[in-house]
Amino acid sequence: MQEMFDRAIIGFDLSRKPDVQLIASITQTKAFYLAELFVQSDKRRHGLGRKLINQLIKQVISEGYLSVALRTSASPWLIEMYSKLGFRIVGEQQVTTIKKIAGQELKLPDDRVIMINDLYST
Ligand SMILES: CC(C)(COP(=O)(O)OP(=O)(O)OC[C@H]1O[C@@H](n2cnc3c(N)ncnc32)[C@H](O)[C@@H]1OP(=O)(O)O)[C@@H](O)C(=O)NCCC(=O)NCCS
Repeated sequence: MQEMFDRAIIGFDLSRKPDVQLIASITQTKAFYLAELFVQSDKRRHGLGRKLINQLIKQVISEGYLSVALRTSASPWLIEMYSKLGFRIVGEQQVTTIKKIAGQELKLPDDRVIMINDLYST
């Protein structure tokens, strides 16, 4: 992980994210929530995001977790990236995000998907 100090992955137990837990219908299983995945912009598209997720999966398995859940923008490439890493869509959510466009703050609808990776399924 030395080479990844300027990249980040953050997460915690899914029980701390009850809205996602409800949509994902995971209440009995010990599940981890991947809250933020970030690679420095000039280091993207070199496989680091994939490495970070695979590393996280190994780590949470060693801690006894049975699944990983996340919420991401419903953009096709992000859905494809997570699908290739073993995640599947289990729900959708529309949230409102505030974006500054031409100096003006606008509230815009933003489609998100909830995805889970059942770590032990084949
Ligand atoms: C999402 C993010 C972490 C990906 O990191 P990365 O190091 O560029 O990802 P990788 O190089 O490991 O790419 C993984 C896959 O996604 C694809 N991919 C990555 N960025 C892409 C883009 N902008 N458009 C299309 N495909 C993309 C890669 O081609 C690769 O596909 P492959 O598995 O077929 O080879 C990075 O773009 C980022 O930090 N974005 C801003 C924060 C963010 O959106 N986080 C996710 C929120 S849940």
